[in-house]
Amino acid sequence: MDKIIVEGGQSLRGEVKISGAKNAALPILISSLLVDGSCTYSNVPDLKDIESTKKLLANLGVRVAMNNNAVKIDAAGLNNYEAPYELVRKMRASILVLGPLVARLKKARVSLPGGCSIGARPINLHLKGLAALGAKVDLVHGYVEASADTLRGAEIYFDTVTVTGTENLLMAAVLAEGITILRNSAREPEVVALADVLNKMGAKIEGIGTSVLKITGVDSLKPVAVSIIPDRIEAGTFMASAALTGGDIKIVDCEPTHLESVIHKLRLTGSDITIESNIIRVKGGDKISSIDIKTMPYPGFPTDMQAQFMVLMSVAKGFSVITETIFENRFIHVSELKRMGADIKISGNTAMITGVEKLMGAPVMATDLRASASLILAGLVASDTTEVNRVYHLDRGYEAIEKKFAALGAKIKRVKA
Ligand code: EPU
Repeated sequence: MDKIIVEGGQSLRGEVKISGAKNAALPILISSLLVDGSCTYSNVPDLKDIESTKKLLANLGVRVAMNNNAVKIDAAGLNNYEAPYELVRKMRASILVLGPLVARLKKARVSLPGGCSIGARPINLHLKGLAALGAKVDLVHGYVEASADTLRGAEIYFDTVTVTGTENLLMAAVLAEGITILRNSAREPEVVALADVLNKMGAKIEGIGTSVLKITGVDSLKPVAVSIIPDRIEAGTFMASAALTGGDIKIVDCEPTHLESVIHKLRLTGSDITIESNIIRVKGGDKISSIDIKTMPYPGFPTDMQAQFMVLMSVAKGFSVITETIFENRFIHVSELKRMGADIKISGNTAMITGVEKLMGAPVMATDLRASASLILAGLVASDTTEVNRVYHLDRGYEAIEKKFAALGAKIKRVKA
C-alpha cells in the first residue's frame, strides 16, 4: 500500500481549490437508481469511495461512465436488486441503495454493513423506517432482505439523528404512495443537497434544511444534470492546516455557510479568517489558543473535523477538552498522536489535551479517513519525517491530498508501494 511522507516545518501559503463533497456525491449518485433515464453530475470527486459506488451501481445493471469529474448514470437497465458483501464491506454507504431499490424494484437484498473502526454503526433506524413505510424487512445470512409491493407514506421519528438513515428513507419515500413525515431528520448540507436533487428530479419534499421533512410521493422521477456541492470537511481540513502551520491559505470554491461552527472555533484559536463569497482565507496566528470542542449533528461542530482539531489542540497553548458525542470509538488517532509526542488523556468519550511545544515525526497509521488526515496535519508541524501508512483510507475521501498540500508549500510526497 502507498505511503505519504511529510517533512514538517513549512508554513503553508497559497490557494487551494476544494473538490466536490464525497458525502453528497455518494447519495446523489445512488439516487439515480430512482430514475428511468440518464442523469449527469459534475464536480464529482475522483475518490476510492466513488469508484466503489460506480462498481455497486454497475453490479445492479446500471450504466455508469466517469470522465474527469463528470459522471453519467443511466438506470434504465436496473435489473438486479442485490448489493453483495464484497462491495458493501468496502464502503458502508452502500446501504444507501436499500431505499431506492425497494422503491423502484419492490425488493432489495443488501449485505449488512459491519461495524467499523470508529464505532458499531448500526442501521436499525434505516430498517425501522423502511418497515414503517410498509416493507417486509428480514435479516437473512448477513443480508437485509426487504420487499414491498407498495410503499405507503408514514410518520417516522428518528431516535438518533442519522445522516444516511435520513437519506435512505428520503429516497424510499419520494416514490411511496401518500405523505411521509420524517421527524428529527439530519440537517447536514449533504442531506439538503440530496433533497434538492430529488426535488429537481420531480420529487415533492418540503422542509428541506429543517429536522421535519414532508414528502408527498410521486409516481416517477425524471433525469437531471447537477453539480455536486463543495466538500466542507476537505475545506475544514485545509483551514486547520493554515492555523496549524501559521500559514496563509485562500480556500476557494468552498461554501462558507456550511462551515460556520468550524470558522467560529478556528477564530477562537487565534486565526484571522476572512470570507468573500465562496472563498475563505485563513491566516494562522503567532500562537494557537486552546479551546474546548463537542461534536454534534449539523449545525454543531462536525465529528468529521474532530481529529484535525485535536492536532491543533496538541500544539496549542494550554489545556483543552474534546468531547465526541457521535461515534463511540472515534479517538483512534490519539494513540498515534501520542507516539508523536502529544499529551492526550482519554476518559470515555472525552479527550483531555495539554498542548506541547513540538510534535516529533514518526511512522504512523490509522484505520479511519479523518484520523488519517489528522496524521498528515500532525506531520506538517512535527520535527523531521512523518510516514503515514495505509493511505488507502485517505484515498477514500480526499482528492489528491498530497498534491494540494505540496502546492501550498508542504514537503510531502507519495511513495508507491
Ligand atoms: N445510528 C444508529 N442507528 C442507525 C443509524 C445511526 O444508532 O440506524 C447512530 C450511529 O451509530 C452514530 C449516530 O447514529 O452513533 C450518527 O450516525 P449517522 O447515521 O449519522 O452516520 P452515517 O450516516 O453512517 C455519515 C457520514 C460520516 C459522518 C456521519 C456523521 C456518509 C457517507 N457518512 O455517516 O462520514 O461522520 O454521517 O456526520 O455520509 C466520513 O466521511 O469520514 C464519515 C465517517
